This record gives sequence, C-alpha cells and structure tokens, in this order.
Amino acid sequence: MGHDAATLAAILSGAGFIAAQEEAADLLACAAGDDEVLDALIARRLTGEPLAWITGRTSFCKLEIRVDPGVYVPRWHSEALAQRAVTRLPRNGTAVDLCAGSGAIARTLMSRRPAARVVASDIDPRAVACAAANGVEAYLGDLFAPLPRALEGGVDVVVGVVPYVPTPELPLLQRDTFAFESPLAYDGGPDGTEILRRVLRDAPRFLRRGGALLLELGGEQAGLLGSDLARLGYIDVSVLIDEDRDLRGIEATLSRELGKAEPLNHRKPHSSD
Ligand SMILES: C[S@@+](CC[C@H](N)C(=O)[O-])C[C@H]1O[C@@H](n2cnc3c(N)ncnc32)[C@H](O)[C@@H]1O
Repeated sequence: MGHDAATLAAILSGAGFIAAQEEAADLLACAAGDDEVLDALIARRLTGEPLAWITGRTSFCKLEIRVDPGVYVPRWHSEALAQRAVTRLPRNGTAVDLCAGSGAIARTLMSRRPAARVVASDIDPRAVACAAANGVEAYLGDLFAPLPRALEGGVDVVVGVVPYVPTPELPLLQRDTFAFESPLAYDGGPDGTEILRRVLRDAPRFLRRGGALLLELGGEQAGLLGSDLARLGYIDVSVLIDEDRDLRGIEATLSRELGKAEPLNHRKPHSSD
C-alpha cells in the first residue's frame, strides 16, 4: 500500500520514532516510488532495525557514509572526537582509525586532510568491507596488529571509538541496539577499559613522539586510565566534555621524553585550537 510522507511520519511517530518526518523522507527516497519496496522497508524499520542499515547510509560530520547491515552505525556524539582528530593531523600527516566500523572517522580525516594518509582497522570483516567501500584503506584484525609495519613510529594521530561499555551494562543499552548490533562493537570488559588500556599500551609503537591519541570513552573511565596514561608517557591529557557536561573522550600527546606525566585538563568539544 502506498504512503505519503505525512501518513508514513504518523506511523513512525506512533511507533515511537522521534525523528519520524526525517525517517519518512529517507524511506520514501529509498523506495523510489515502489510501493512494495516501501512496505518492506517500513516493516523492517518497525522491528527497530537501524534506519542506516535499511537505507544503506548515514550522515557523519556532514559526509554521507555507507553503512552495511551488521556494521556499527556511527553516532553524532563521536563527531566532536573526529573533529579534534582533524585538528591534530598535519596536512601531509598519517592517521590511524582503530575499530573503524564503517570508517566514518577515517573518511572525515580524509575529507578534511586530503593529502594525509589515513589507515583503519577492524576485527569484523563486514566492517572492513564497508570501510573499504567508503574509500578507506582498511585492514582486518585486532587493533594495531594488521597495520603496515612501515607506519611504526611515524603516525601523527591515533583515534578510536573502541568498545568501552562495561560488560555488566550491556543489557542496559537501548532495546534496538541490543537486539540488532553486535556486542563486539560495545563490550569493553568488566569496567569497559579492557580495549582502551590495550590501545594505550600499544599506540606508542605507532605514534611519533608528540603525536596525538584520541579515544572515545564514558563515565569515570578517564580517571581509571590516569595511571596508565602517566606510566606510558602520555602528556597534555585532556578530557572531551559534551554540551550536557558528560565525558565523551580523552585526548593525549605522546611525550617526547617518555615517562613525563601531567594532570588531567578539561577541554570542551569544538574548541578551535
Ligand atoms: C563502537 S564501534 C565504532 C565504529 C566506528 N569507529 C564508529 O564510530 O562508527 C566499535 C568497532 O570496534 C570493532 N572491534 C571490536 N573489537 C575490536 C578489536 N579487538 N580490534 C579491532 N576492532 C575491534 C567492532 O567490530 C566495531 O566495528
């Protein structure tokens, strides 16, 4: 049965979708006038399947990103981290996007620094294929393990939205997240810092001295990582705070003299330096 935009928005709104009008427009565009296809798309959406998997795309930092079914849908709250990573990447520099998913952060770096080399990795073959389809130089494997050895010691920026949800909190994620997305994208171990700590430990092998590490995290995790950061030689450590005053990430610089530690500063997102 055919639907106009207003009817479809009313159906979606009635089912609890907040951005019902935008979603209705996206689904109609995706169906391209085919009523049977539209019905199938609506049915999928009403199960709670992510819109990006149905339309095959989403927007991130004003870029259109392809998102294949099964691949983590990049979130708006990661945009500030990506933008900070851009500010730390020299024009001809090198960046690594760890746990890249669709490659949304890598694509952002590539679009803002077209002369830079940006590489990415993910442990999920669907994510690596999707990132590659987005034009990203993507490698399959665990964190830094699959990256070209030639990059060691010369990387300007390591950025990552790695899994950081504490295992006991996984069941508290939104119903649709839990039903559709893989725990592999979220599970950060008992206190959520297992993979974050591995990144802190391994990043100095790839970062140049003075290079930047930027990681998304939440809750009290910046504090939990404080001693690792100091011990491993990160300095100028600041936390990224969003408009609601929630902790969103951490930014640090690899010291030129290893072992030098400094206290945490607070940095607001979108700062222009
Ligand atoms: C929260 S998603 C983030 C994806 C992407 N950075 C973004 O913001 O859209 C985390 C990603 O980490 C990947 N992942 C989980 N464990 C990994 C590991 N040990 N090494 C590499 N990738 C991993 C998952 O497959 C998933 O794509």
